[in-house]
Amino acid sequence: MRKPLVAGNWKMNLSGAQAEQLAQALVARVGQVDRVQIVVCPPFPYLLRVRAVLAGSKIALGAQNCHHEAKGAFTGEVSPTMLVDCGCQWVIVGHSERRGGKVQEKDDLIRKKINAAHAAGLHVILCVGETLFERQNNETPSVIENQLVGCLEGMPADKMASVVLAYEPVWAIGTGHNATPQQAQEVQQFIRNWLDDQFGAGLAAATRVLYGGSVKPDNAGSLLTQPDVDGALVGGASLVADDFVGIINAAPAGK
Ligand code: 13P
Repeated sequence: MRKPLVAGNWKMNLSGAQAEQLAQALVARVGQVDRVQIVVCPPFPYLLRVRAVLAGSKIALGAQNCHHEAKGAFTGEVSPTMLVDCGCQWVIVGHSERRGGKVQEKDDLIRKKINAAHAAGLHVILCVGETLFERQNNETPSVIENQLVGCLEGMPADKMASVVLAYEPVWAIGTGHNATPQQAQEVQQFIRNWLDDQFGAGLAAATRVLYGGSVKPDNAGSLLTQPDVDGALVGGASLVADDFVGIINAAPAGK
């Protein structure tokens, strides 16, 4: 049974006080929810403050990125062990905002981050997704497959057990144009089939695949009830307690 997972990626938003207030509102409203696994990923400087608010609730703490080494001369970077030290259980890797733009993270680096996160005991949310140009050129399956191969091929099963996939079409992020439920299902079924080919039916059936990209309370129900959509990775709507709670409430029982 795959328990639904709804994760909030707060990105580079909020003040420390606002982050605490948002966490307090979530603890009050969904802090004891068991049906859905809930994760919030604040900016690094607020991890400890949010951790203190989440204490005693079932909401888990995650980070938005990590370095691929445990320690060393890497100015400005944060290691997975430091994240664990700050109370994180999760880390997002491979987000398109880090694959693209000025950061230009490549699959081999993302693979190293997954390995480092696993070594530190973190669960990983690995993002994959195509650009609008790639979709319009019918490259979606090959782009997704290349990302999966580059980041995950040959990964031992024990590492895969701590990986959650997130299909985030780049054209749907922050645009208000979410993928249709059919588009999300089509790609997420493709991802599960790839997992089946690589790692076998058991792991494919157990691995959660989230959808991300303009998820809101009013579209969450139709997206999250698709057979291969096991939850959501939420950006903008995760900054508003009412909206994030609405998405959590729209998640169906596990599949
Ligand atoms: P939006 O929900 O704002 O489209 O962002 C999605 C996202 O990038 C989550 O990681």
